[in-house]
Amino acid sequence: MNNENKPSSSYGMSRVDGRLKVTGGARYSAEYKLPGLTYGVLVGSTVTKGVIKSIDIKQAQRVPGVLAVITYFNSPKVPGYQLGPSKPEPDKGQIKVFYDRKIRFNGQPIALVIADSYERALHGASLVTAQYVTEKHNTKLTDNLKNAFAPHDDAEYKRGTPDAWKTAPVTIEQEYLLPSEVHNAMELHAIVARWDADDKITVWDKTQGVKDTQSNIAQTFKIPVENVQVNSKYVGGAFGNSLQVWPHEIAALMGAKVVNRPVKLVLSRADMFSSVGYRPHTWQKIGIGATADGKLVGISHEAVGQTSTYEDFAEGPADVSRQLYACPNVYTSNKIASLDVGSPVWMRGPGPATGTFALESALDELSYKLNIDPIELRLRNYADTDPETGHPFSGKNLSDAYKMGVENIGWSDRSPKPGSVTKDGWLVGYGMSGGVFGADREPASVRATMLADGTLVVQTAVSDIGPGTATAMVSIAAETMGIPINKIRFEMGDSSLPPAPQQGGSTITSSVGSAVYLACKALKEKFQQLAADQPDYVKVLKQNNLPKLEVVTDSKAGSEVDKYAMYSWSVHLVKLMVNPATGVIKLDKITCVADSGRIISPKTARSQIIGGAIMGIGMALTEEAVIDHRYGKVINNNFADYHVPVNADIPQIDALFVNKPDTNINPIGAKGMGEIALIGMAAAVANAVYNATGKRVRELPITLDKLLT
Ligand code: MOS
Repeated sequence: MNNENKPSSSYGMSRVDGRLKVTGGARYSAEYKLPGLTYGVLVGSTVTKGVIKSIDIKQAQRVPGVLAVITYFNSPKVPGYQLGPSKPEPDKGQIKVFYDRKIRFNGQPIALVIADSYERALHGASLVTAQYVTEKHNTKLTDNLKNAFAPHDDAEYKRGTPDAWKTAPVTIEQEYLLPSEVHNAMELHAIVARWDADDKITVWDKTQGVKDTQSNIAQTFKIPVENVQVNSKYVGGAFGNSLQVWPHEIAALMGAKVVNRPVKLVLSRADMFSSVGYRPHTWQKIGIGATADGKLVGISHEAVGQTSTYEDFAEGPADVSRQLYACPNVYTSNKIASLDVGSPVWMRGPGPATGTFALESALDELSYKLNIDPIELRLRNYADTDPETGHPFSGKNLSDAYKMGVENIGWSDRSPKPGSVTKDGWLVGYGMSGGVFGADREPASVRATMLADGTLVVQTAVSDIGPGTATAMVSIAAETMGIPINKIRFEMGDSSLPPAPQQGGSTITSSVGSAVYLACKALKEKFQQLAADQPDYVKVLKQNNLPKLEVVTDSKAGSEVDKYAMYSWSVHLVKLMVNPATGVIKLDKITCVADSGRIISPKTARSQIIGGAIMGIGMALTEEAVIDHRYGKVINNNFADYHVPVNADIPQIDALFVNKPDTNINPIGAKGMGEIALIGMAAAVANAVYNATGKRVRELPITLDKLLT
């Protein structure tokens, strides 16, 4: 990666891979052309529940160029799937592709057609037909709330008197609904799969964690982990649904084995709605009680999210009510209901993104009932120590964030009376919400090598889903080593490099950033041992006749995890206008303030906040995966019908940072930011809509019909 920044300071640097990304020089997984490459297209079930009777593949096989059609009836055995009489039914867990005849959701892969061109494979796939014995399906969450169950022992939480909120002088009790949302990264899920030998695999794969994908593939095919090479150099957005290995990846490897050639398999946009997870449709109920002067007496927060019949996926939306405010009496419950749908999966801010919509809407409702400003209400219940554990926070400057946000958006112009301000015939409203996400530091290893020409090579397995990991890491390395950024090469997205965590849960800057810092520090010390007073690395190497100097550093969290409660915080403020005649919502301005420790890379951090805010705008106003329950199928499985925000929907977004290092969590003082950029955004929009109109919408997305009825 080259960089044209003239680097007197590493701060404010542009993306090191920016030029490659905008010129097509960055190669994504689907762009690897191998000799003998073949193309796979999946066929999905057209029914939602039942059993496959037969699959007719003859017509597909007759298509010129079609090399194989793989189904349950002819698929190669996958050792890790543990087929056998002792285990006729799979345990609950991720779906096993072509494993049995059972159909568990609409679109479940039932066949893979492989051909010498994509078009021929696609045509072949269109000719595969199946006969099923169908069963009555059940895809509607709101009909199944009574069947909800606790997926694990600590799905319920109690503090103080769980029901105390009911006895408070002022109470709110409301239900909130979130639809399923689909990640819909620009880059489609894609894999190029190749068997190098009977027990050796190389893949170019869209993944958030090359090491995790490596071990998953090794286990599935029962081959040594070091025989699996996973490459994921660039990822065009992922947001959580590339944290696991999906059926299409295993299917591609099965296919490559059958045709004995490399297989490329790229999901269609429609497949992205059925086959790689989504944010679960979730029902929530909040009970909240306060004294007349706004002190919280108690919170009760129940959530039921949908999951599949084959996997107990639970994200824990109610947990925010344990964490966000000082409140003596709290009850939370995170349950799930099994439906005949594909499994949901982690999606940006999993848990709190959903939970804050309910909690922060309810708190807003309470603020109007109490006639206390929403920010003031939050300050009156500000948690100075972790309400859950009593531990001190490793760092919390949320009140600074409130101040910065209030000033930036012009909060003093907000009228406390809903529907009371108009401009040019439009109703004007302001809303806010807080956000919180756990701040972690995971084990990470980094190799730092100084070459004879003064190039520093920094290597770690981590893959970058888009936030600009390489840029932040180069910035840390430049500052630590005291060298210009254009002398640094950062290599990643390769399972043969020193291990790093998955890029998920907003942990990479904290985890890998600390490892880069420590590796560079160790390398610098090694140089100082060779020549204490010679700052020029090239000269030291030459004087000592060394071709290079290298360190590998393992790093992980220490005892601080037992001492501190660790979180990143955010506040989102929204100014918007609503047309009283049409219900159209026009966003006017958005301010997001992050309290996430030290900001390593201001430009990419700003992009993270803007991206998260836009995702939150989609969540608030447009995004909803709609199932037609007669057929159990997502019917708006394309970008024409599933509306993600476009430029015209997006107002000015100001990203502000408290930028106070949290050195209790790690040596670089930086915490995660990806998730808090989104968490709370939907509630802030909903709260602003209420302030503008006096209409409280508790079911997302806030489409105009909900404002007109
Ligand atoms: Mo994270 S759920 O990988 O955006």
